[in-house]
Amino acid sequence: MSKGSAGSLAEEFSREFHGRPTIFRAPGRVNLIGEHTDYNDGFVLPSAIGFYTHVAVSPRSDGKLVLHSLDFPDTFEFNIQNLPPAKLGAWCDYVLGVAQELAGQGRKVPGASLLVRGEIPVGAGLSSSAALEVATALAFLSLMGEAIPLKSVARLCQKAENEFVGARVGIMDQFVSCMGRKDHAVLLDCRSLEFELVPIPEQIKLVICNTMVKHELSGGEYNQRRAQCEEGVHLLSKSYPGIRALRDVSGEQLEAQKASMPPVVYERCLHVVLENQRVKDAARFFRSRDLPRVGRLMKDSHASLRDLYEVSCVELDAMVEAAEGLPGYFGGRMTGGGFGGCTVNLVESPQAPSFAEAIAARYRKATGILPDIHICSAADGADAEKESESLSSSKV
Ligand code: GLA
Repeated sequence: MSKGSAGSLAEEFSREFHGRPTIFRAPGRVNLIGEHTDYNDGFVLPSAIGFYTHVAVSPRSDGKLVLHSLDFPDTFEFNIQNLPPAKLGAWCDYVLGVAQELAGQGRKVPGASLLVRGEIPVGAGLSSSAALEVATALAFLSLMGEAIPLKSVARLCQKAENEFVGARVGIMDQFVSCMGRKDHAVLLDCRSLEFELVPIPEQIKLVICNTMVKHELSGGEYNQRRAQCEEGVHLLSKSYPGIRALRDVSGEQLEAQKASMPPVVYERCLHVVLENQRVKDAARFFRSRDLPRVGRLMKDSHASLRDLYEVSCVELDAMVEAAEGLPGYFGGRMTGGGFGGCTVNLVESPQAPSFAEAIAARYRKATGILPDIHICSAADGADAEKESESLSSSKV
């Protein structure tokens, strides 16, 4: 997926804007388990993956913010004192959202030239938007000479997406894009933001299978699921006043109130309550290297997202079915918000290439669509690219 090296980005930048940029990068992510739990103050277990969004930046003295991307045709130019107050419906919204959020926190955002290059497929549920936000935040902060903790960067970027872009996403994507670690998953408590790194056994690959059906987060379904969870909390808190989020609800409490809830709200809540437990169990089984049990939990998670939370789609289900019985496969599920995008599969490393080939053929037979398959390992989170990396010309 890589479109050239960081070196070529520096060269493109000097062609476009003249001068030498500093380059920041932030990765996409794959969530191993814990879907639609983050905005319920629950638990998630994602990994950063080695596909990055790179943002090259340098300051400007004319008070303008000029944005260009190697992936999209349009260039955007704004007056930094007078940034658009509402989204424009283009990729620049993620950059503007971050700039507005920094300004809202009382920071003086300087004029800047930004050149963006993304390796993460857009709309595939691998968090290309979170990666763009995080790399942009690091770029602006460097121009301001400020370093804030990465956890705060994650919060700021989540807020930018919630308030400017209008997608009421949780903290998972921005957090793991900041805090991911090579060969580890991040077990995150989305309420306290405490986290533990969980080693992914070295004999495993994360095989990511793109259904090629694009998903759209700012669309209504995601926000509607969130509203249904809030309704559940509201109803449950009448009987259990201590409850602040579905994270606080036990299976027994939910069952006891089943009759007093609309069936669809009950099902959404049931998914979240069971999924939180699956995340904690999966982290434990990863640590004890019990991969068959992790795999089983991933399959259960998929079934729950399909039947209770109703965020899967025909193509995601076909991709999950296509994995069944292939050599080296432990388990898999849809990953991310749903309604398209990717599945993630735990596969023994030596079998990963043949798994990739076989699942692509089966999926194509079932749907007529040729999927993209990526054999991945967990990668490091966001950082500044080193001078030597950013200036060495295209040796890939
Ligand atoms: C999207 C959001 C995340 C999370 C997932 C579902 O990726 O950005 O915050 O809610 O959907 O788990």
